[in-house]
Formats: sequence, C-alpha cells, structure tokens
Amino acid sequence: MREVKEMSVLITGGGSGIGEGTARLFAAHGARVTISGRRRDKIEAVAAAIGPACRAVVGDVTVQADREAMVAAALAHGGKLDVLVNNAGNMYKQSVDGYTEDFLKEAFNTNVVSGMMLASISVKHLEKTQGSIIFIGSIHNRRAYPGASPYATSKAAVEGLTRVMAAELGPKQIRVCCILPGAVATEINVRAGLQTTEEAAARYASFASQHVLGRIGTDTECAEAIEFLACAEWVTGVALEVDGGLGLGVSKF
Ligand SMILES: NC(=O)c1ccc[n+]([C@@H]2O[C@H](COP(=O)([O-])OP(=O)(O)OC[C@H]3O[C@@H](n4cnc5c(N)ncnc54)[C@H](OP(=O)(O)O)[C@@H]3O)[C@@H](O)[C@H]2O)c1
Repeated sequence: MREVKEMSVLITGGGSGIGEGTARLFAAHGARVTISGRRRDKIEAVAAAIGPACRAVVGDVTVQADREAMVAAALAHGGKLDVLVNNAGNMYKQSVDGYTEDFLKEAFNTNVVSGMMLASISVKHLEKTQGSIIFIGSIHNRRAYPGASPYATSKAAVEGLTRVMAAELGPKQIRVCCILPGAVATEINVRAGLQTTEEAAARYASFASQHVLGRIGTDTECAEAIEFLACAEWVTGVALEVDGGLGLGVSKF
C-alpha cells in the first residue's frame, strides 16, 4: 500500500464538491495537488484555502489545449504525475422523447471523452511513476432514474472504459479504477439549472432513506475511497460503490 505523501495528483473539477474534498484530503495527507476548473474564482479560492500544496489551473476539460495545460501544470507543480482524478462532470437530464443530438454529444464529450483524452495525455507520465487513473462514475450505473439517461449513459461508459483501460495499461503498471458515488450534496444539479440551492438541499434530504445507511454521503467520504484506490497497489479495473448502500436497490418485500 502506498501513501499519498509526496504524490503529485491532478484533480479536474477541483473547485467544488467531490473534487474539492479530494484536493483537501490529498493535500492534508502530504500530496502536491493541482486542481482545474473553468471558474477561476472557485479553484483559486480552494487553492488559497489549502495553501502551497495546491495549485489551480483554469481550463475546460473539453478543450485539448486546456487538457494539455492541466497535465503540464501538475508536472510543474509536483515534478511528476502519480494520480489523475478525472472528476469534472455535469448532470445531463433529458426525456427520451425530447432528446437533442447536441445535448447527448455534450454529455458524452464532457463526462467521457474529456477524461479519456486526459488519460491519453497522462500515460507516458504515469508509466514513470507506476501511477493510477481514477474516474468518477455514479450509482446511476446501479439504479434507474427516469429522465437521466444521458447522464447514466455517460457514467456507464466510464465504468466500461475503466475495465478496458485497466487491462490495456496494466502491463505499464498503471492502474485504472472508478468510484460510483451515491448522493453527495454538491452544486451539480444547481449548476445544471435543474434545481435552486434550496430545492437541491430538500432533494438530497429526501434521498437519505434510500441509502441503506440512512443518510447521503460527503465529499470527504468519496475522497477517502479515491485515496484508497490511489494507494492500493494490487487493485485495478474495479468500480467501487461509495454509496451508503444505495446501489443495493433495497425495497420493501
Ligand atoms: N454529487 C453527487 O451526488 C454525485 C454522485 C455520483 C457521481 N458524481 C460525480 O462526481 C463528479 C463531481 O461532481 P460533484 O457532485 O462534486 O459536482 P460539482 O460540485 O458541480 O463539481 C463538478 C466540477 O466539475 C467542473 N467542471 C464541469 N464541467 C467542466 C469542464 N467542461 N471543464 C472543467 N471543469 C468542469 C465544475 O467546475 P466549473 O464549472 O468551474 O468548470 C465543478 O467544479 C462528477 O463527475 C459527477 O458526475 C456526483
């Protein structure tokens, strides 16, 4: 089992939610963390709060030049790259009879293609450190939520590509895993224009009872699972449910 101390870690979407929590945890455990996002104010505030261990790089994961700049920033800040956390993502809801091609392509581009391209750029650097790539899937891969098929499809792709990437990169000693979080209170649905902040809070609260453990999760609890996957040297290709039992799909008999 490795330690994250001295690791160089790139976390996309590190300006809020699970990415922010992961940046805080890794930095607290001695890693050099580089976070990216499109909103300069968000990532710079997180980096300032964490301190010198964290550097912010503004960029859009759907833009190749920005993706290259993110990896370059992590190499400059950490001197190497040990872990790529492909966390940036958005919620995409659309009804089946209302699909628009551009919307579906945007969902796939942001939630799937961007992380694949970042992985591609990172391979030669991760090979040197025998590092790892961690994707963020979703418990939408285990539960069916009507209206969310664009998002669920993108997250199912993340789980699928994790397995194939793990098989392909294993001989280079690069491990590839993903986590499947249950509900975690973040700004994702508000940013997607689906809920107000108040509505989101009420919705998350209503989700608690669907989790076997009776509550939704925290960004820190997701970060702890990401840390485990970054350090567990004989674990690859797994999709780890970090969901308080939501994915069990328990219903009354
Ligand atoms: N919250 C949950 O319940 C939950 C459950 C399962 C899975 N997840 C997954 O967890 C990951 C993190 O989401 P979150 O819940 O923590 O939501 P969040 O707080 O909204 O974080 C997502 C981050 O991604 C960044 N981002 C989005 N599109 C981007 C782009 N094109 N380029 C660069 N950065 C981009 C956003 O920053 P900017 O807008 O500033 O770019 C934002 O900081 C996502 O992949 C999400 O699908 C969340």
